[in-house]
Amino acid sequence: MRFRNQVVWITGASSGIGEALAYAFAREGAHLILTARRRERLEAVQHACTGAGKRLLLPFDVTDLEYHPTAVGAAIEHFGQVDILVNNAGVSQRSLVLETDLSVDRRIMEVNYFSVIALTKTVLPYMIERGGGQIAVVSSLLGKFSTPRQSAYCASKHALHGYFDSLRSEVYAHGIRITLICPGFVRTEVSMHALRGDGQEHGQLDERIAKGMPAEVCARHIVNALHKRKEEVYIARSEKIALYLKRFAPGWLSALMRRVNLR
Ligand SMILES: NC(=O)c1ccc[n+]([C@@H]2O[C@H](COP(=O)([O-])OP(=O)(O)OC[C@H]3O[C@@H](n4cnc5c(N)ncnc54)[C@H](OP(=O)(O)O)[C@@H]3O)[C@@H](O)[C@H]2O)c1
Repeated sequence: MRFRNQVVWITGASSGIGEALAYAFAREGAHLILTARRRERLEAVQHACTGAGKRLLLPFDVTDLEYHPTAVGAAIEHFGQVDILVNNAGVSQRSLVLETDLSVDRRIMEVNYFSVIALTKTVLPYMIERGGGQIAVVSSLLGKFSTPRQSAYCASKHALHGYFDSLRSEVYAHGIRITLICPGFVRTEVSMHALRGDGQEHGQLDERIAKGMPAEVCARHIVNALHKRKEEVYIARSEKIALYLKRFAPGWLSALMRRVNLR
């Protein structure tokens, strides 16, 4: 019960890591605000949550930036505060640069980057007024290095690090802590909904995602990291080695990436 009576807002709570986070925080006694586009899936998640905390569903498309003030207003009206905002909603990519329409690059940046900074900016004044809070951002190991066929996805996740590392120092004195979360392969629907170059969904469960860490395990690590108010956390298995290669032997990593199957 490490988060008893804390108000935790999770975006992308209708499946995968966000859904698992909802269950994990519910077990910790938190009150939950759950956001995603699919209302029925959110309702199912809400019903499956065990724990004494209250729940509020706020279904909306996070790229509808004009709606953010209304959503935040509804959250504040309902709970009076947001203690932890978990920016988790995201979309991945499966396409080479030259086959990716610019509208798809933009869409990925809208979901993974602009909606995240917009919602954060809308929630922050309330946290500052209360004298504290936590912002979690679900980035990726691909926020630290890049793979082929995910150029816009990698760019969007790298951008989050630049932005939130800067914000971290700006809001520290207000008692606000920022945690950047970098998962490796996690078994979710992420590859199913990943965008192809023409904007269609990839629609396939990729092998490495299928063999990835269970979302529940990832969620447990995230909850622990937030409890410890960590600045950045890597949640991965053997793929974590690429982080060290990027840092200490970047040429080796580039050579490995050139061998990745491009189809
Ligand atoms: N799985 C992995 O291997 C992995 C690795 C590193 C990082 N991540 C990151 O983890 C986060 C969660 O992904 P996941 O793996 O759990 O995939 P997922 O199962 O596909 O979940 C994605 C979530 O984001 C929501 N979402 C997507 N677009 C949205 C939009 N425009 N507005 C509102 N909600 C939206 C989806 O809900 P609706 O469709 O209902 O809107 C869903 O709840 C993402 O940021 C992803 O980049 C995943």
